[in-house]
Amino acid sequence: MTSSGGDMADTSLATQASGAAPKTPDKTAGATPKLAMRLTNLTKTYPGNTTPAVDNLSLDVADGEIVTLLGPSGCGKTTTLRMAAGLEVPDEGDIYFGDTAVVMTSKSLCLPPNKRDMGIVFQSYAIWPHMTVAQNVAFPLKSRKFPRSQIKDRVAHALELVGMAGYEDRPGPLLSGGQQQRVAFARALITEPRVLLLDEPFSNLDAKLRERMRIRVKRLQKELNIAFLFVTHDQVEALSLSTRIALMESGVVQQQGSPRLLYESPANEFVRDFIGKTLLFRGRVSAGDPSGRLAIALDGAKDCVVYGQTYETGGLEPGAEVYIGVRPEDVEVEPAEGDQVPPGMMEGKLDTALFVGERIEYQVAVEGQGIIDIYGERHQPIDEGRKVWLKLRAEGHTAWRSDRAHDLEDSL
Ligand SMILES: Nc1ncnc2c1ncn2[C@@H]1O[C@H](COP(=O)(O)OP(=O)(O)OP(=O)(O)O)[C@@H](O)[C@H]1O
Ligand SMILES: [Mg+2]
Repeated sequence: MTSSGGDMADTSLATQASGAAPKTPDKTAGATPKLAMRLTNLTKTYPGNTTPAVDNLSLDVADGEIVTLLGPSGCGKTTTLRMAAGLEVPDEGDIYFGDTAVVMTSKSLCLPPNKRDMGIVFQSYAIWPHMTVAQNVAFPLKSRKFPRSQIKDRVAHALELVGMAGYEDRPGPLLSGGQQQRVAFARALITEPRVLLLDEPFSNLDAKLRERMRIRVKRLQKELNIAFLFVTHDQVEALSLSTRIALMESGVVQQQGSPRLLYESPANEFVRDFIGKTLLFRGRVSAGDPSGRLAIALDGAKDCVVYGQTYETGGLEPGAEVYIGVRPEDVEVEPAEGDQVPPGMMEGKLDTALFVGERIEYQVAVEGQGIIDIYGERHQPIDEGRKVWLKLRAEGHTAWRSDRAHDLEDSL
């Protein structure tokens, strides 16, 4: 399927609909993006529940940003999105779309969904089966009494944007899951909303299609400069698509920031363990500075010191036992050559090797550490039972007082 969306010069949905007032995205070089949506101190407890589904959540989404609500099942992502959409009324808090307040609980203000400048895409697509593709996409314009003469052009352009041009007359049920998803996107975009709300829009698609949809959404977002509030529990989706991520647990945002910030500088152990994989090595602080940067000597290794950052309140004193959080890609493994472990390296014995396609996952019994999972290069496989040397990247790790649920296993 082809999309004419590759032409970046003319992407406003309105520009092809004669007479419609185009909303020109503010793409002035260097201009600070304007706030598209602001959620302030939102709290919601469902009737009959004792704990809030969402607890004092604040979040800004600027024009052209993809902000993602990420977190485990039941952490309050959908509830937040539904409050933004006007499908759920918060107990406390305010919501602004641009400068317009749509919710102010202190003044009992709560505007209905059709009075909010947004489009929404659900996990279930919600394509109407008795309508054609064009009728589905045109529906929001018709219900807003948009002039008939302009609807056809707008529908055609929206379908082009999502790569579904030519499917206008196809009945809704005769589409694949991925095609239905794109029709749902076109329908949500047709009114040119300032904010697009997406609740797990790819979770019913297979892995390949999800990847393609991710790229398509990223392109769409660049072209249209719309603000996206995106809900997912898939961390790869969140890391690859987001300008910022708000990671939630039990209704509370644990950390907000760029994907890189959450991956490299997790604020707490929940964030560390939720985003990506973390290996925990034991060590002892040998020196530290007031900013929380530490030199840590690894247990069981001579002359093996790495640098990391602690986010523990009060820092960590020299001599303190710590767990060093290391990302798997920051450890190299190689077969041992001789008996002398080179400085800066650790010794281990390769217990198990699992070929998983793009890499080999080794379980290595590391001197003074227990069993640790290490990723190895697929082109240089190492035999089970061999003595190996491990080299940790010198810096960029995190240091933690406890190992939380992430226990190092001493034996298999
Ligand atoms: N209509 C409802 N009535 C009562 N409790 C609800 C209702 N909807 C959600 N909840 C509860 O609120 C909490 C948050 O639910 P929510 O649907 O927002 O989670 P979520 O993060 O979207 O989860 P998932 O990833 O499974 O979709 C959960 O404990 C859920 O059981
Ligand atoms: Mg949900």
